[in-house]
Amino acid sequence: MRSVLPRTTRARAMTVARCCGLASLALLAALQAQPAAVAADAAHGAQVYKTCALCHSFERNGAGPKHAGVFGRTAGTVPDYRYSPALAKSGIVWNDATLDKWLADPQALVPGTKMFFNVDSAQDRADVIEYLEQKGGAVPTP
Ligand code: HEC
Repeated sequence: MRSVLPRTTRARAMTVARCCGLASLALLAALQAQPAAVAADAAHGAQVYKTCALCHSFERNGAGPKHAGVFGRTAGTVPDYRYSPALAKSGIVWNDATLDKWLADPQALVPGTKMFFNVDSAQDRADVIEYLEQKGGAVPTP
């Protein structure tokens, strides 16, 4: 009788270990699969935006137009900002795809624009676009 007990306990412990080992492997795989897929990180986007802030803010025009409400807006339509004719006439609507092209190479998307700044890293672009959408997607406050 005495020898049965430890064996059972050991067997049970092994079952638990095998089960949980597999479960945590699956969990690990799921966790690792996630960030690579899309996951734009608005918090990191806020860091990237610090470089934009040389010329932009959400509330006020500076060297560049203000960004309040920029996501979903037609390019070149902040009323009190003097755009280049090229951007003003572009008819672009700012969304994920157009912003990505713009930030990768403004001159290529809108020849003649006066924004001379680009973001090389695709991840940085995705993150700052997410930040623009979250912070600048609302209707601009007057
Ligand atoms: C060196 C100054 C400068 C920096 C840095 C800069 N921009 Fe600009 N940006 C401009 C200027 C100038 C314009 C207006 C371009 C025109 O009229 O052709 C502009 C226009 C834009 C527009 C179009 C807005 C509209 O109302 O149509 C967006 C969007 C934009 N910038 C996003 C960004 C983002 C995001 C960053 C940072 C990753 C950034 N810019 C960094 C100068 C800058």
